[in-house]
Amino acid sequence: MTPAHDHRPRQLLDFYLEAGADALVGEEPVDRFAATDAPPAALAPRASEPVAARPDFARAGPAAPQPAAPQATDEAVMAARQAARSAGTLEELRALLEKFDGCALKGSATQMVFADGNSKAKVMLVGEAPGRDEDIEGLPFVGRSGKLLDRMLAAIGLDRTQVYIANIVPWRPPGNRTPTPQETQICLPFVLRQIELVDPDILVCLGGPSAQTLLGIKDGITKTRGRWFTFNSGKRDIRAMPTFHPAFLLRSPLQKRFAWRDFLGVKKALTE
Ligand code: URA
Repeated sequence: MTPAHDHRPRQLLDFYLEAGADALVGEEPVDRFAATDAPPAALAPRASEPVAARPDFARAGPAAPQPAAPQATDEAVMAARQAARSAGTLEELRALLEKFDGCALKGSATQMVFADGNSKAKVMLVGEAPGRDEDIEGLPFVGRSGKLLDRMLAAIGLDRTQVYIANIVPWRPPGNRTPTPQETQICLPFVLRQIELVDPDILVCLGGPSAQTLLGIKDGITKTRGRWFTFNSGKRDIRAMPTFHPAFLLRSPLQKRFAWRDFLGVKKALTE
C-alpha cells in the first residue's frame, strides 16, 4: 500500500501535467496491448507524440468501452465537405459542425471552439487548434497566447470587434498535442467554408501549420512569414500572410520584432 506520506503519485501527476497531459480521454485505463483490433487511425498513437501526452496508452488495465469509432478519414472528409458546402451562413456552419461526428477530437474536447470576433471583419486570423483555456471557454485565443495576440492587434489599432478569429481544428487535441494530418484534413472543409462566408480582405495564418494547411505551402514559417500569398476564398482572390504563432512568440520573445513587422504589413494592406 502507498504510505500516506508518499508523494510520488502526486509528483507523477504533476509530471504528466507539465508534459501537457492535462486532459482525461477516458474514465478507465485501456490495455492497448491486449486489444486485438488496431485502434482507429485517428486515435492511433503518433511517433512524434510523447507517451506522457497519451496516458491511456501508458498504463495497463482492463479494456474500457471505447468512444464510437470515427468514420474512416476519406469518408469523414467527404462528409465534412458535404456538410460545409451545405451551410449558407456562419450560424448554419456552426450548427453543422456541432453535429458533425467525423473527427475523434470531438470526443475528448470539452466543447467546440468555433470563432470569436466580427464576422464582417476585413481581417480574419486562423490559428491551429484550441488549447486548454479555449476548450474551457469555448472561444479561440483566450489563454496566454490569446492575450499576446490581443496586444499585437492593439499595436496596429485593432481589437476583437474588428477582426474575426478561428482555428483550423475546432476541438482541442488531448494534452495540446498537434492535430494529426487526418484530423486537419477532416476539419479543413469547415474552416475553408468559414473563410468563404466571412469573406475577409486579408487572411492572417498564425503559425506554420495554419499557413501550410491553408496556403498549401511546404516551407516553414521562418521562411514564409511576412510574405503575401494569394488565397482563393471560394468567392475571390484575397491576400494572405503567414506570421509567427503567438505561443511561439511567448517562448521566443526576440522574434516579436518580426511579428511586429508582419502586423505593420497587415495594417498597411488595410489602407490600400
Ligand atoms: N492556439 C491556437 O492555435 N488557437 C487557439 O485558439 C489557442 C491557442
